[in-house]
Amino acid sequence: MSTRPSASSAPYDIVPREVKFNWGDSPLHWLKDDAFASHAVNEFSYLLTQGEKFFCRVFREALPLVKDKKLCADVQAFIKQEAVHSRAHHDSIEGYLKRLGIGGGDFERNNAVLFDQLLSAEPFGRKPPRFLQKQWLVFRVGAVAAIEHFTSALGVYILDANWEGSGADPVVADLFRWHGAEEIEHRTVAYDLYRHLGGRWPLRTLLMAIVLPTLVLRMGAGTVELMRQDPSMKKKNASLMSPGFWYAWRQAAVRGNVPDIVWFTFHSLRFVRPGYEPLHEASTEQALAYINSSPAVLAHQH
Ligand SMILES: [Fe+2]
Ligand SMILES: [Fe+2]
Repeated sequence: MSTRPSASSAPYDIVPREVKFNWGDSPLHWLKDDAFASHAVNEFSYLLTQGEKFFCRVFREALPLVKDKKLCADVQAFIKQEAVHSRAHHDSIEGYLKRLGIGGGDFERNNAVLFDQLLSAEPFGRKPPRFLQKQWLVFRVGAVAAIEHFTSALGVYILDANWEGSGADPVVADLFRWHGAEEIEHRTVAYDLYRHLGGRWPLRTLLMAIVLPTLVLRMGAGTVELMRQDPSMKKKNASLMSPGFWYAWRQAAVRGNVPDIVWFTFHSLRFVRPGYEPLHEASTEQALAYINSSPAVLAHQH
């Protein structure tokens, strides 16, 4: 029997599962007392619908290179979970945000350029030279690992957040909490895959230096997009150039409804430290406790 350690650092099986949401009643200000945070969270539905399809494509590309049985199973479960996440957020756009007259606009179009064109196997239709193809794959898997570091940390943040104190709609809250909990559950996979494909520390640091500002600015752009379509919000604050926008973000963070830039910066530093292990960044028990009580998970089982 081989004593070689597995390339997987997840000491459990990752479980893909289906969910069922009822999008008939949720209001635009799903955090009744916090319009800004309502938009700052909902914009993730556009970002994730598109971004997680990209994750699935990159991981399907990488799968034939995985030589470890457990990591192979992790990657397959990861792809299945992310596909369900992407679909669930797509359904929330179709059944909830569209019903309220909200669209993705330029935000959605720019996400498509980022995920479908720039980060594809053939960026803007140009195939990389043969000697760079593996490196390009490692780069994109590493970018997913850096993003997944945040999705897992965001999972912890939202499982701990007291959204109910701001009058949360239970269906939207459950969408993001169930998703966040599964992000915690599969938090090891992208980084394990990156390591397995030969990804090292210097590139990891470079990737985080790119992912941190990109993610914060994408989140900001998405929030602006939704604010512009909300007649109850001050038009002059619906811009990344407006100090009012950043003040509103800070206020939402002080209320504990969304993390701010300080939080994102702090968490980026955890990812670049030499002994980084995603397994130690969150609690699987906390995630599974939520998943096992999630109304959307239970609704699908019955
Ligand atoms: Fe996800
Ligand atoms: Fe994920």
